[in-house]
Amino acid sequence: MATTKDYGLGEFTFPRGWFMIGESAKITSTPQGVRFFGQDFALYRGKQSGKVYLLDAYCPHMGTHLAKNSTSYVAQDGAVEGDSIRCPYHAWRFGPDGKCNHIPYSKGPIPPQARVKSWRVEERMGAVFVWHDPEGLEPDYEVPTIPVQGQPNWVPLAFDDLGIVGCHTQEIVDNITDVAHFGPVHGSLTKYFENEFQGHVATQRMGGGHRTLTTADGPLLETEAVYTGPSVLITKMFGTHNSYIYIAHTPVDDGSAYVWHGLMVESPTGQANYSEQDVEIARQYQAMALAAFAQDFEVWKHKKPCLKGLFVQGDGAFLKQRAWYKQFYNPRAQREELLKNVEGVWLANGMPGMPEQQAA
Ligand code: FES
Ligand SMILES: [Fe+2]
Repeated sequence: MATTKDYGLGEFTFPRGWFMIGESAKITSTPQGVRFFGQDFALYRGKQSGKVYLLDAYCPHMGTHLAKNSTSYVAQDGAVEGDSIRCPYHAWRFGPDGKCNHIPYSKGPIPPQARVKSWRVEERMGAVFVWHDPEGLEPDYEVPTIPVQGQPNWVPLAFDDLGIVGCHTQEIVDNITDVAHFGPVHGSLTKYFENEFQGHVATQRMGGGHRTLTTADGPLLETEAVYTGPSVLITKMFGTHNSYIYIAHTPVDDGSAYVWHGLMVESPTGQANYSEQDVEIARQYQAMALAAFAQDFEVWKHKKPCLKGLFVQGDGAFLKQRAWYKQFYNPRAQREELLKNVEGVWLANGMPGMPEQQAA
């Protein structure tokens, strides 16, 4: 398994950005142990506010995992009280800010070191996101969301939980510049293709036929895939149905990632408010989109790391994209320097860019 260091990405092992850490519907007041960025966390929903909290997992008292317990009477009685969580070992209680606010058997003062880190989380579109920043700074962009989110004629996002893939996130991000895989892997007939990098955003614009998502004589499948930050990819796909594909990948350890897939579909029957029938059609369409994504996934699962790559003419802007990705693994102060010669529109040799008349 190759690491961030092997790819030469920068000084941080894990990137800066907003990362999906779970589906809202699966996060309850029963704490869960989760692992991302090579660290363990306790994830739970406060009973009082209904908000989701993410705390470092290990209790400062004697190192117990706050969430990985089901047999202690603390866990059996419900470890979450209000918005606080009790450790299953000696029942110290930690607030949503991570500070210990109750030690049931001790009359003495609560030491200031009795605290765990509480992470900044946001809930959007039925998913929970954490801000991860090795420099400990405030977010410099918003949680990426689908622009039509919440509109009544769009069937809401439903997630496919794809679990952990054992490859470095670089291999997943490579996909945005990989013009040459569309034919062999997905059966596409790519007619135009281009990439654009601007600040923390990377875009891929593509048009062509697609064997699994449209029919041979069906409409041209046109996609605009946008990474806002290093981890959330939202693809506008106008073909058989108007839809947005959502793919989020979050580093688990250095060389593995957790992946979610989802789809929002505009009412296929043209309703102002989507119907049950629309949901059914949308879910079938999602299964087809997932099958297309699974084609990529199977390659990632079994490939060996591409640390350099033997890139040839026609391969797409891999080196620009890998340079763009480095901004998230280095201090913000270096971003301008890192993005020099990277920003702009890049074509793959031998493939036209997006036709003028279609450019916005
Ligand atoms: S180890 Fe957590 S309260 Fe003792
Ligand atoms: Fe692909």
